[in-house]
Formats: sequence, structure tokens, C-alpha cells
Amino acid sequence: MTITTVILAAGKGTRMRSELPKVLHKIANKPLLEHVYDMSRQLDDNHIKIVYGHGGELVKDTLSHFEANWVEQEQQLGTGHAVQQVSDQIADGDTVLILYGDVPLLKLSTVQALLANVSEDTLALLTVNLQNPTGYGRIIRNTVGQVTRIVEEKDATPQEKLVSEGNTGILAVKGDKLKNWLSRLGNSNAQGEYYLTDVIEMAVADGIKVVTSQAATEAEVLGVNNRMQLSYLERIYQLEQANVLMEQGVTLADPARFDLRGSIEKLGQDIEIDVNVIIEGNNSIGSKVKIGANTHIKNMVIEDGVEILPNCVLENSTIGRGSRIGPFARLRPEAVLAENVHIGNFVEIKKSIVGNGSKINHLSYVGDTTVGNKVNIGAGTITCNYDGANKFRTIIEDGAFIGSNTQLIAPVTIGKNATIGAGSTITRDSPENQLTLSRTKQMSIAGWQRPVKKEK
Ligand code: UD1
Ligand code: CA
Repeated sequence: MTITTVILAAGKGTRMRSELPKVLHKIANKPLLEHVYDMSRQLDDNHIKIVYGHGGELVKDTLSHFEANWVEQEQQLGTGHAVQQVSDQIADGDTVLILYGDVPLLKLSTVQALLANVSEDTLALLTVNLQNPTGYGRIIRNTVGQVTRIVEEKDATPQEKLVSEGNTGILAVKGDKLKNWLSRLGNSNAQGEYYLTDVIEMAVADGIKVVTSQAATEAEVLGVNNRMQLSYLERIYQLEQANVLMEQGVTLADPARFDLRGSIEKLGQDIEIDVNVIIEGNNSIGSKVKIGANTHIKNMVIEDGVEILPNCVLENSTIGRGSRIGPFARLRPEAVLAENVHIGNFVEIKKSIVGNGSKINHLSYVGDTTVGNKVNIGAGTITCNYDGANKFRTIIEDGAFIGSNTQLIAPVTIGKNATIGAGSTITRDSPENQLTLSRTKQMSIAGWQRPVKKEK
């Protein structure tokens, strides 16, 4: 079965009160339209057409990596008019699936169930039973329960408005039939629009049966019209992801205070995640990893047994087995920590390798550096890697001990088991096994008097 999916995304989204087109607003850091696209991509033999609006170039440009045909609808004259824009791209034998760029949580399983209801003599329609159907088109059925038409809220009689079964707008039908009905749509209705919903009545007149189905949850078919609805669907989406993680054996201190804005490709067992943790991009998290509160993790590889204490910001780096990070630590891109490394509070590591068992426990900046095994870097150590124009590497070999408040002016090498005296500014290579220090000699002046205030 060849499918043509038409995603309607031409609406302006006025109620978002935004410069950004509505479908580019994000759930879990991914544009609404991309959620719909990613879901429909999972259908086999599917050609995706996206109807975008006048001025919607930004949508097309932002999502230019989509394998889809972009079709402009210059004026928004209604949902029927929107689908008409792709009529000439629909093959007669295709099954056409209509989706919406602002309905982001629709599930593949729901769409598959819908598609299973399409045949030469049926139209598949997704409906939703609502406590409050205000604003929705109502599904009108005859005395034997068969759908006869859809009436829009603004065209409905008081009697029709009592119907609680609403139209989601999502439907699927054979291409030749849809094209025929689309060519006959009129706009004599309360809104003066070409309603896609009018094809239902035409289908029934042509002896095509309307088969309805429903999504497992209402959230799947909810659209985003304003920022309240956006935040509502964000929380639903996050809770779903949290549930998936918990099913896989992750402990979440509070699933309502957890955000996954990306994926965890490799997930170990018995991971514990405290409150307010945000995980972004593509990540791998090993077994028995503990992640403390208020930590931001992005594109990280975190190996087994790592403990991350609260308030860390970790990005594009690797943390080896058994290491302990934080609290208040920052890993900038390309920090590669081997096993059992300790990174403490107010330490920033950038583009550096840190060997097994090495410790950088307090108030330090280590950038463009190779740190060997069992190195101890004291509080307040700075690698001065940048002269204002170029960056240089620092090499600290195995077993070295860097005293507190030391500046290492790169390029510089600290030899194996070397000791650097506290408070040193190191500008030249320091030999192995020796104590190197650069420090003015301490002196005391006997009989020295403190200045006293002059009398006026
Ligand atoms: C539509 C349905 C209604 C259904 C409701 C569900 C019609 C006539 N009505 O109503 O039965 O209950 O959705 O939310 O279909 N769009 C375009 N081009 C246009 C008009 C709309 O691309 O010219 C897109 C919008 O961006 C939006 C979607 O189609 O994503 C629905 O449009 P909207 O105006 O929100 O439809 P409703 O009037 O709410
Ligand atoms: Ca409308």
C-alpha cells in the first residue's frame, strides 16, 4: 500500500503571539512539525507532503532536512483548500492520510489502526469523545449509528452542538475518491471556508462507508493553539518518556520534575535520577549511575557507576567508570575523563583528557590539557591555554602533584611525579620527580610600623 501523507501546517498560529510560526514551537526541544514528521516517517512506502503557509519559508528552511515535498498554500481558505494544493501530487491508487503539523503527540499505532480501516469502499476517520466539545466539528450519525456528515461548531444547530463526539480532522481514504470530492468542495458556510470535513457527506452519498476509530488518549489528538496548550502537551510528553524510563528500570525521584529533550540510546540498569534533571541530545548512561538534582546533561557518555552530585552542567563529554563529578562542576565539549576521576566544585574542564584516578577537586580551570593517571591538581589551578590569539596544550604526566593556586602557562609539560609548589606561575617545562616552584621568597621586617592617620 502506497501512502501519501499530507501534513497541514499553513496556519499562522496567531494565538501563540509569536514571531515564530506555530509549528516551529517546540516540545522536548523538537519542533511540533518534526514530531508529526518523525512519526509519519515510520510508515512504509510513504510520500510526505507538507502544506505550508504564505510567509512560512522559515518553516521550510528550518526543516529543510525533511524528505518531503513542500507545497505552499498562499491564502488560508480552509482545510479543504489546503489539501487541494496537493491534489495533483496524489496518485489514484494511493491511500491519503491527513495529519496536522500542530498535533504533535499522535502515535504511530493510532495511525496504523486508522489506515487498516481504509479500503476501496471505506473512509477512515479518527474521532474523539470530549467532555467539552466546544470548537470541534461534531460527528453526526444516523439512527443506526452510521456517520453521515460532520458539522462545524459555527454551522451547528443547538441540537447538534450537544453531540460530544468530535472530529480530530485526521482521516485516511483512497486518492482517486478524495481528489474527486476535493474538486467539488464549496465554501457556502458560516466561515466562508473550504472545509475538508465536507468530504464526509460526499463519501456517504457515493456509497462509501465512514469507519471511525479512536486514539488511546485524548492528548494524542490535541492541537496546539496557544502557549498554555504547548506547556500542557510538553508535560504529557515528558511524563510518557519518564514512564518509559521507569519501566526500563530507572528510578526517578519525581517524574514530574524530569525532562528528556532528546534520547538516551544506551541505558544501563539501576540508574537514579534526582529532581530537576534535564537530559538533552544523544546520550549513553551506564548502570548504577546516580545523577544529582539540578543537573543539565547534553550529548554525554556516562559510564557505569558514575556519581554526579547536584548542580552540574555537562556537555559533549565522556565520564569514565566510577568517576565522581560535582557538585557545581562544568564539563565543556571534549572533556574525556578516564576511570575513577574526581572532579569537584567549581571546576571547569574543556577539551582535555584526564587519566585514571586523577583528582581536580576545587576551583580550577583545565583546558586543552592532557592529564595523566593519578595526578592531583590542587585548588585554584589554572591552565593558561590562550594568549589572546592562539591556544596551546598543557601536558601533566602521571603522578604529578600541582600545588594550589598555580598557573600553568601553555605550552608546558609537567613531568612524571613532579611536584609544583603552591602559588607558582609555571612558564617552562618542569622535570620529573623534582619540586618546581616560582615564588618570591617570604620575608619579615622586624620593627616595622603600621601607617597612622594624619591629623588634619
Ligand atoms: C478543524 C476541523 C474540525 C475539527 C478541528 C480539530 C475543518 C473544516 N474543521 O477545525 O472539524 O474538529 O479541526 O482541531 O476541517 N490549515 C491550513 N490551511 C488552512 C486552514 C487550516 O493549513 O487554510 C491547518 C491549520 O494550520 C491547522 C489545521 O489545518 O493545523 C486545522 O485548522 P483550524 O483552522 O485550526 O481548524 P478548525 O477550524 O479548528
Ligand atoms: Ca478555522
